[in-house]
Amino acid sequence: MKYKTRFWPLLVSLLLFGSFALAQNNLTVDVSQSVARIQPTMYGIFYEDINFAADGGLYPEMIKNRSFEFDEPMMGWQQPNSVKLAFNPNSGYATVIKSLHDGEKFNFCRVEVNNPDQYVIINEGFRGMGIRQGAHYDLTLRAAKRSGNVRRITLELIDDAGNVLGAGTIIPTSKQWANYATEITATKTEAKAKLRITFSGKGELDLDMISLFPQDTWKNRKNGLRKDLVQLLYDLRPGFLRFPGGCIVEGRTLAKRYQWKKTVGPVGERATLVNRWNTEFNHRLTPDYYQSFGLGFFEYFQLSEDLGAEPLPILGCGMACQFNTGELVPMDELDPYVQDALDLIEFANGPVDSPWGKVRADMGHPKPFNMKYIGIGNEQWGPEYIKRYKVFAKALKDAYPDIVLVSTAGPFPDGDFFEYGMGELVKLDAELVDEHYYRPPSWFRENADRYDDYDRNGPKIFAGEYAAQSVEIASPNNKNNWETALSEAAFMTGLERNADLVHLTSYAPLMAHADGWQWTPDMIWFNNLESIGTPNYYVQKLFANHPGTDLLRITRDGEQLSGQNDLYASAVKDAGKNELIIKLVNTAENSQKVKVDVEGGKPGAEGKFTRLRSDDLSAENSFESPRNVYPTEGTVRLNGNALQVELPAHSLSVFRVSLD
Ligand code: AHR
Repeated sequence: MKYKTRFWPLLVSLLLFGSFALAQNNLTVDVSQSVARIQPTMYGIFYEDINFAADGGLYPEMIKNRSFEFDEPMMGWQQPNSVKLAFNPNSGYATVIKSLHDGEKFNFCRVEVNNPDQYVIINEGFRGMGIRQGAHYDLTLRAAKRSGNVRRITLELIDDAGNVLGAGTIIPTSKQWANYATEITATKTEAKAKLRITFSGKGELDLDMISLFPQDTWKNRKNGLRKDLVQLLYDLRPGFLRFPGGCIVEGRTLAKRYQWKKTVGPVGERATLVNRWNTEFNHRLTPDYYQSFGLGFFEYFQLSEDLGAEPLPILGCGMACQFNTGELVPMDELDPYVQDALDLIEFANGPVDSPWGKVRADMGHPKPFNMKYIGIGNEQWGPEYIKRYKVFAKALKDAYPDIVLVSTAGPFPDGDFFEYGMGELVKLDAELVDEHYYRPPSWFRENADRYDDYDRNGPKIFAGEYAAQSVEIASPNNKNNWETALSEAAFMTGLERNADLVHLTSYAPLMAHADGWQWTPDMIWFNNLESIGTPNYYVQKLFANHPGTDLLRITRDGEQLSGQNDLYASAVKDAGKNELIIKLVNTAENSQKVKVDVEGGKPGAEGKFTRLRSDDLSAENSFESPRNVYPTEGTVRLNGNALQVELPAHSLSVFRVSLD
């Protein structure tokens, strides 16, 4: 019986796969020669405020439209009829009293309380508010008593049925605008709570900046970032953080572009702006999507520092999104845009007595952020881009010769836009060119050799946005399934094999709210309480956690292994730990035997591996099964100088072996 049970699986494999399954792939890795240094920036993060990634996501403000600045000023607020509620400025109830940022007006809300102790306004949060039993929340607001005597404001977290899940009280005292605060402790966990505000007394009361934040934030900062989401980023150990996008940099129109100067300084003074993804896709309309800029440029730099990642801001270059209006700033009016870029370098790196260095210092960071890179334009294309890039490059390099400029080859990895842009940028001696590829999984497997023959005398490459699309770009049906992730892994061995040329890489987009997204696939999905890594996240993590320091040559019959026999390979050395790291991807439907002969050094007797695999290419992770596709670890014994392994079907394996 014993023999029978052992024998059957072997027989079945032989029948299914024949001699193919038994064929051994012989590879050789030379550990004596460093082909190139792996840049510490090799694996990084692309962050964009898309899919509610900032407000409602990483920036865990729970009140939507906290300062009544949306185009519809009461959006997000429900108003029962029991009291009169008016939004100014033009209703005759009040005038706009705050006037900041070049004379722009700020709104507030006036409540007229005639029937005391009836609930009057309810905020719906970002598709609800996620609260946890026992957790504490900081409620702050600004108020001014205009007439009569509204004696008390009661603030309650409620569920759909109106049950109270925690409450706080504020006693307004001043006729002038004043800040008030209370703490609310949640008595129950609820993913879709709301905030109900009730008033006692009678009279008119003005309200603004009604804000609710968890106390439990990343690094326990007051009004800080959402802890679980930053933790997922931190666990990647990213080499850089690109921000704030993406198309959001450009805006659909120039007037609505991202302007970093409006995102720094006191949070209450940052002007709200409609999010450009708000109504971009008819199939995923999110008209309530705005940017409060509570997560602004200071916070991005601070996050980069927390993550140990190089900050990489991308700035608009006087071109609105070419997929939308494509509006252009005339060349003779480009100066303010260039000045914004120069000022940003001063904000990040300047001394505290420089105008913008002082803004940074006043925000609590006198030490420079030591920014080394800056991007000019997101994914612009055509001659208008090149014309503008030249102006930026001249001004920035004249003032800051050491800053590395990131330019763009447009939205596609090939075709006219790409050929023209890359051609011009080569002529201009561009340093680092950003390439984007949103392509089917097969493209990623077939293009793992993309950089093998690239010109080594041209610009270095930033693979700044990529993701395999299971259906097609911008389709709402795209999935973060194992096929897409495995194909990206295959492609990434090609990025790594070309690390002399490819200096930065990042998957895009990064995050999506399960109830508020516009674009899929995305690396991390979250709701108001939970967050999960997709299979694509774990692929990124495996590469980013094992980046090595030196590129090694790994070959099969003297050739790079890039899809022959459905196998992909890259190898690096971690010089600090004196370890060999080999990444092997098997995209075949069957397991495959691989023997890697280690030449030029002596490997230890045992190695470790981390593996991602699934028999099911359509497998995804979900809130219910977050570890459906998840790394497993194991050990492997070496046979003298050879690593002999059987790679499971559809798998990515990262081996680490010490070197004597
Ligand atoms: O990642 C989503 C979008 O794709 C980015 O904003 C843009 O740069 C690209 O077209």
